[in-house]
Amino acid sequence: MTAAAETPTRKGSEAAAEAARRRTFAVISHPDAGKSTLTEALALHAAAITSAGAVHGKGDRRGVTSDWMEMERSRGISITSAALRIDYSDRVLNLLDTPGHADFSEDTYRVLAAVDSAIMLLDSAKGLEPQTLKLFDVCRSRKIPVITFVNKWDRPGREPLELLDEIEQRIGLRPTPLNWPVGIAGDFRGLIDRASGGYTKLHRTPGGATRAEEELMDAERAAEVEGAAWRQAQEEIELLGEIGADYDEESFLAGESSPVLFGAALPNFGVSALLETLVRLAPAPSAHLDAAGRPRPVEAPFSGLVFKMQANMDKQHRDRMAFVRVCSGRFDRGMVLTHAATGRPFATKYSQAVFGSERHTIDTAFPGDVIALVNANALRVGDTLFDGEPVEFPPIPSFAPEHFAVARAVDAGRYKQFRRGIEQLDTEGVVQVLVSDLRGEQAPVLAAVGPLQFDVVRHRMEHEFRAPIELSHLDYNLARRTEAESADVLRGLSGAEVLNRRLDGELLVLVHNKWRLRVIERDHPNLVLEPLLAGG
Ligand code: G4P
Repeated sequence: MTAAAETPTRKGSEAAAEAARRRTFAVISHPDAGKSTLTEALALHAAAITSAGAVHGKGDRRGVTSDWMEMERSRGISITSAALRIDYSDRVLNLLDTPGHADFSEDTYRVLAAVDSAIMLLDSAKGLEPQTLKLFDVCRSRKIPVITFVNKWDRPGREPLELLDEIEQRIGLRPTPLNWPVGIAGDFRGLIDRASGGYTKLHRTPGGATRAEEELMDAERAAEVEGAAWRQAQEEIELLGEIGADYDEESFLAGESSPVLFGAALPNFGVSALLETLVRLAPAPSAHLDAAGRPRPVEAPFSGLVFKMQANMDKQHRDRMAFVRVCSGRFDRGMVLTHAATGRPFATKYSQAVFGSERHTIDTAFPGDVIALVNANALRVGDTLFDGEPVEFPPIPSFAPEHFAVARAVDAGRYKQFRRGIEQLDTEGVVQVLVSDLRGEQAPVLAAVGPLQFDVVRHRMEHEFRAPIELSHLDYNLARRTEAESADVLRGLSGAEVLNRRLDGELLVLVHNKWRLRVIERDHPNLVLEPLLAGG
């Protein structure tokens, strides 16, 4: 490389060009809607892998989502997040995995801080389900553009117009179908592309591991072949035009309308249209706003946001790993970055790209990519790393815990390991750790969004830190942020307990339930009792 190639402007324009090729997104869905199947189908279509079976997360097949914990395997759920890079023609699609189980929603929310768009995956028979609604709320609060994919059209389900109506009525997102199914759910014949009027007929192949045959047909021939189903689809499409359900870029990018696609991930039908839509419509990485609201353009020197921490993904490599979303500039392995929170240097000699549970060393990365940094003990979720011009991105909000338990080491002789493990899991954000003088250092309170997080702590404390713990559940189910003066008053009340959040020292008061909180608020109207974030 010549000296000229290294100048900031050359590097900047390279970063901008590379950013334009990238689409970084996540799939939001309720468990069982078909996220693993769709991931597999997307990868298959993009020819990132040769056999669909290679990435499915269940059964005997090898998981693309991190299959690093025995517990995860035995429960058949994905606890951790990883990124899947899919090369598709001249584009790079970065699919960030979101844990599907409701109890891991905090982790999922964080992943949504690192994407530029999301696919809302719906089961055609079930429509909007609770987990999808929760995740959609986060997308809305962050103004993340959402593409809707109605899956399992090969099975009996609801009417397409009824599904669109549900989306509009329940979440106020205006659906704008890009294609339209011919044949009712369960009798899926094919898809009409609304823009071109072209018809793609589905020819099923047995099993899911091979791509369904897609046959392109002109309208005349399609009308002949599909008969009444074709005529009905045409009538419905006319109706869509009349009610103005047409794609609109501005409202899509603002998170107000959503392009809708129909398909079936299992027989891999309608998935190529989704890939094309991602490439054509989903936004490429653009300037990130820093904590002061100033944009950091993609061509600026390197900056990245830590959106996930994880330890010991691989038993051979005992280390902590930080997942970083590149926000600007070019990343070169070996760069020494600055950790914005401490001002200290951070060496990146051991950066990696993560593909499922496998690791590859990477040398360069660009805006929209995810890199994994090992030996990242100093980093925390929400931290910024940068090169050159300093920048600090706003923190990723943490979510309101609703479950609380006191942790104690079973074997008092292993207190050192106990403390190290608890601190580690706290820093990773597996749970929040709360402490108080009253309870003492040996009995921290763990706070979780969902109770399954406690199982993860128990498991990791025993197997990873060799410090088995016992947990005693506390009879509180909500937390409020408070301040020193109010805390003094609250300490004297029954049904409430004041603790400090270990990581940031924030004062929190735990309360039995909302009735008790109401009584406290009524009797002491001047106390500071601020709700914690619950949606971004
Ligand atoms: P998840 O990751 O969102 O939890 O869902 P997953 O992909 O595991 O899919 C859940 C179930 O739905 C699976 O069946 C899967 O095969 C099925 N499925 C996904 N997409 C489609 C589709 O387009 N059409 C049909 N008919 N089925 C679909 P399973 O029997 O629970 O699991 P498996 O034994 O097939 O792995």
